[in-house]
Amino acid sequence: MCGIVGYVGKQKAASILIEGLKRLEYRGYDSAGIAVLQGARIDVAKKTGRVDVLAKSATRRRFTGATGIGHTRWATHGGVTDANAHPHLSSDGKFALIHNGVIENHAGMKKFLLEKGYTFASETDTEALVNLVAYHYEKEPVTDGKSRFLESVRRALMHVEGTYGIAILCTDCPGEIVAARKASPLVLGVGDQEYILASDVAALVSRTQNVVYLKDGELLHLTPANFSIITQDEEDVSPVVDRITWNIADAELGGYRCFMEKEIFEQPAALENAMRGRFAEDGSTALFGGLNLTPAELRQIGHLVFLGCGTAWHACLVAEHLIERFARVPVEVDYASEFRYRNTPLDRDTLFFVMSQSGETIDTLGALREARRKGFKVLAINNTVGSSIARESDGGIYQHVGPEIGVASTKAFTSQLLIAALVALHIARMRDMSFNDGVEYVKAVKSAPALVHRVLEQAPRIREIAKRHAHYKDMLFLGRLSLFPIALEGALKLKEISYIHAEGYPAAEMKHGPIALVSPECPAVFFAPKGEIFNKLVSSIQEIKARHGKTIVITTEGCELPPGVADELILLPDCHEAVLPIVATIPVQLLSYYIALERGCDVDKPRNLAKSVTVE
Ligand code: AGP
Ligand code: GLU
Repeated sequence: MCGIVGYVGKQKAASILIEGLKRLEYRGYDSAGIAVLQGARIDVAKKTGRVDVLAKSATRRRFTGATGIGHTRWATHGGVTDANAHPHLSSDGKFALIHNGVIENHAGMKKFLLEKGYTFASETDTEALVNLVAYHYEKEPVTDGKSRFLESVRRALMHVEGTYGIAILCTDCPGEIVAARKASPLVLGVGDQEYILASDVAALVSRTQNVVYLKDGELLHLTPANFSIITQDEEDVSPVVDRITWNIADAELGGYRCFMEKEIFEQPAALENAMRGRFAEDGSTALFGGLNLTPAELRQIGHLVFLGCGTAWHACLVAEHLIERFARVPVEVDYASEFRYRNTPLDRDTLFFVMSQSGETIDTLGALREARRKGFKVLAINNTVGSSIARESDGGIYQHVGPEIGVASTKAFTSQLLIAALVALHIARMRDMSFNDGVEYVKAVKSAPALVHRVLEQAPRIREIAKRHAHYKDMLFLGRLSLFPIALEGALKLKEISYIHAEGYPAAEMKHGPIALVSPECPAVFFAPKGEIFNKLVSSIQEIKARHGKTIVITTEGCELPPGVADELILLPDCHEAVLPIVATIPVQLLSYYIALERGCDVDKPRNLAKSVTVE
C-alpha cells in the first residue's frame, strides 16, 4: 500500500512532492509526510490525515531544497500517529527514509540497533531499516570509488526479510536519492533536468512520460546529473526507458465530483478501449496479441485456473461461468491469497490466469509465482503496463482502461468482464462454437458500450432509489448464474464505500440461511433478468415479499413481474448472456455510489482501505 515519491532536480522539491502525493493518495491515506534536503540538513513535515493537512502545514514551513522524498501511509506496524508517519529519520539525523511494505524481521533488527545505541521515535517496522542504513554507513566506510551512501543501503538490505519500496536521503549527499524495491512497485520518471521517483506513474505523468520501471532486487542511485541502477549483487543494469501512453487528463477529475463517479460514467469509453483491435477480420472470434501461446497449445489446455482478490476475484467467477458455458472447458477459481498456501493438486494440462487491476496485489503476485514455480504457464489480465504481475507473467491481456483511481473498482471490473467474455469466445471458437454463433457473440460484445450507456441514463432514478435506502444498516444482494458474482460485487461496493453491512448470495441459497435476515429493515437487491430461470427467480423474490422484505428488483425490459413483487424497479436492456454481467453491474455501482454520497462518505478514499494492497 502507501505511495512513495522522490524528486531530484532544479525546482523546489516540496510542492512537487505534495502534488505527487495527492495523486498517490488513493494508495493510502492514514498520514502523509515529506523530507527535504536543505543544505546539510534534512527538514521533515509529517501529519496524520490527508495530504491536504500536510500541504497546509508544509506551506507554513520554508522548504527551499531541490531534493526530497514524500510518503502517504497505509499503516501496517504502529498506529496512525504523527510519530509513525513517514519519512523516518535515523537517530543520528543523517538519513531520512520512506517505505512501502513490511520489514518482517524488524524486531530482531531493532534489538540489535538498540544495543548499538540507536534510538527509536516510532512504533513502525520502517524505523529499524533507516537506523540499519545509518549503522552500515558508520561501520563500513567504502573505498574503490563506490558511493558510500548507496553501499550502506545495499548492505542494510541484505539483512531485510519482507517487502519494500524505499527512497532515502543522506545529509552527506546533497542532490542524491537512493531507492530500492522488493515486491513493492517503484518507477522512475526521467524528466528535463530532473528525476521523479514514484510508486506509480500517476505521480509523475504531469512532468514526464519517459519512465524506467525498477525490478525486484534493484537499487537506484539518483544524482543531479545522472542515474544508475545496480542489482543487490552489484551488477550494473542497463535501464530501459518506456513511454507512458496515457496523460494527465486521465488522472484528473474533469468536472466529476470524485474519481468513482468519473470512472463509472466513463465505462462505455473504457469498454471500447478494452475491446479495440481484439476481433478477427472475419468477425467471428477474438484475437489477443500477448497470450504467447500457439492456437495448438491453447487447444490442448484441459483446465483453467483463475486467481484474483476482491473485485478481481468476482471477475474470475464471471470468467468461470462464461468459459464453462461457451467454451466448455472446466474452470477453477480461487482466491489468490488462499491458492498460494494451499498446495492444490493440479492437472498437468492446466493454464492459469491471474486477474489484477493494479498488477501489484501481493497475494496475486505470490499466487502467480507459486504457479510458475510449479511449472505452469500464467497469463495476466491486468490494467497496469509495467506492473510486477505484467512483467512476471508468461503473457496476458491488458485492460487498457487508463488509470483507475477511486479505491472502489468500477471500470476495471467491467473491462475484466469484457475480456473474460472475449477469452471465452476465443477458446469456444477453437472448440465447439459455430461461425454464426461466433458472429452473433462478437456483435453482442460490440454492443456492450451502448448498453452500458443506456443503463447509465437511469442514474437520476437510481439516485432517488438510493435516497430511499441510504439509512439501512443491512442489505442483501441476490443473483444466480453469471449474476451471482455481480451480487457479490454489489455487496462489496456497498460495504466498501458506504459502510453498510451487505451480503451477496446465490438467490436460491437464500432459503438455506440468509432468509432469516429478511425483514422490513433489510432490503434485498435482486437480479432477475430474462432467461430460463426467470420464474424461479420471481419465486425467490416472492419468498422475500411473503416475509415483509423490501425489494429492489433489477430485471430486463419487457419482463413481467407479478404485482407487488418489486418495491423498486431497475430495468436492463435485453442483451446476450456474454455481456449481461457487464450491463447488470452498472445499477449496483450507481446504487452504492449514491447511497455513499447520501451518507456523506468519502467515496474515493473509504476508511481502512487502500487501492493497491501490496502487503500480505
Ligand atoms: C475493489 O473495489 C477493491 N478495492 C479490491 O477488492 C480490489 O479489487 C482488490 O484489492 C484487488 O486489486 P487488484 O485488481 O489491483 O489486484
Ligand atoms: N510498514 C510501514 C508502516 O506501517 C509502511 C506501510 C506502508 O506501506 O504504507 O509504516
